[in-house]
Formats: sequence, structure tokens, C-alpha cells
Amino acid sequence: MDMTHGKPWTGRVFIGVSLDGFIARSDGDIGWLTDPPQRQHASINSSHQAESWETFFPSVDHVVMGRGTYEKVSTFEEWPYTGKKVLVLSATMAGQDDRVSVVRTLDEATDALSQGDARQVYIDGGQVIQAFLRHGLIDELTVSHAPVLIGSGIPLFGVLAHDVHLTLRATHAHNGMVHTTYDVTTSCPTDKRN
Ligand SMILES: NC(=O)c1ccc[n+]([C@@H]2O[C@H](COP(=O)([O-])OP(=O)(O)OC[C@H]3O[C@@H](n4cnc5c(N)ncnc54)[C@H](OP(=O)(O)O)[C@@H]3O)[C@@H](O)[C@H]2O)c1
Repeated sequence: MDMTHGKPWTGRVFIGVSLDGFIARSDGDIGWLTDPPQRQHASINSSHQAESWETFFPSVDHVVMGRGTYEKVSTFEEWPYTGKKVLVLSATMAGQDDRVSVVRTLDEATDALSQGDARQVYIDGGQVIQAFLRHGLIDELTVSHAPVLIGSGIPLFGVLAHDVHLTLRATHAHNGMVHTTYDVTTSCPTDKRN
């Protein structure tokens, strides 16, 4: 059993973000990420490649996302998570969707993961990633920076009670996106701001 940070599953983030730190515009638009203008970007390879969607997605068995991300994904033509168990974190969601299980609190989410067969868990959505980070539940972060500044929107990261230290595992650049994978090394509860 892969016991990571005292739990039987590994919490993993894989997310695209503007260089100024936003995962969507304020109205939820992600066209700047999914349909960028073509330019001549440098390609940079490192001896270790960061996780890509092709390596990351097949390796996860569960997905935990916030209601905001669920609502966006529900507008896609195809449900992208076939074969994965999907938990949606929401205190307010009322509708029934057989493709997902709704969990009402972070504790309910982690209990469901730990009591079930979760091993590799994809954590998605800005607020949810921030909540999992604050509780030391993220073990790996892959962040893909898009070559654009959008000025405002929904932030990827937020306030923390203490520093979260990361170890760089790999990075590469492709089509102007800089992909970087980090391991979360420690949260430091002795930090001054705790
Ligand atoms: N750039 C990318 O790669 C990427 C990836 C994912 C998502 N996105 C975009 O990001 C946007 C959504 O991000 P977001 O930060 O607004 O939302 P989110 O984290 O997906 O969802 C936020 C909602 O999740 C629920 N939630 C979060 N933490 C909770 C907790 N501890 N306990 C109970 N419920 C909790 C709340 O729902 P209730 O209000 O119902 O309680 C909250 O309103 C969408 O536009 C999506 O397209 C972009």
C-alpha cells in the first residue's frame, strides 16, 4: 500500500494556469488555455519530462473536483472521466447524476477515499485544490503555465496557514506551455504565520 502522508492514497494535481496564476476567467472561460493563438515558441526538453495528460490521466483511479469544475465539465460534449470514480465536493448541489458521488465536506471526501479503494487521486478545481493543500493532502503538483496574462479570474492558489515546500521533479516546454511537476515535500507547521 502506498502510504503517502499517512493516508492510503496519493493526492495529485494536474492543472493549466495563466502565467499570472488564474485557472479560468471570472466568467469561467478557459478558451485562452484550450484554444490559444499559434506562435513560434521555443521547445525545451529536460532529462526528466513533467507529467503529461497521457502519462497522468491513465494513472489515476479517482477524481475529486469542486462543484465549479463539475458544472464546467458537464457542458462538455463528452464526459471525460469514464472508468474513474468521481467525487464532487459541494455543500449545495441538489441534482442527481449517476456518474458522480456528491460529498458535502472535505472530511467526507477523505473518508470516502480512505475507506474505498482510492490509490491515485486527481484533485481538481481551484477551491478544492486550495482546501486539499491547506490540509496537507496533496503529494504531487503538475502545473502547466500558459504563455498569457489574463489579469483577473479564478485563482489557482490562495492563502495558506504555513509554507508548502515543493521539490522540483521535472519540467519541459511544449507549444509555449511550461509543464512542471513537483513533489510536495513538507508543510511546515512551525512556520511563523501558523
Ligand atoms: N485551468 C484548468 O486546468 C482548470 C481545471 C479545473 C477547473 N478549471 C476552471 O475553474 C473553475 C472552477 O474553479 P473554482 O475554484 O471556482 O471551483 P471548484 O474548486 O471546482 O469548486 C468550488 C466549489 O466546490 C465546493 N467546495 C470547495 N471546497 C469545499 C469544501 N471544503 N467543502 C465543501 N464544498 C467545497 C463548493 O461548492 P458549493 O458552493 O456547492 O458548496 C465551491 O463553491 C471553472 O471555471 C473551471 O472551468 C480550470
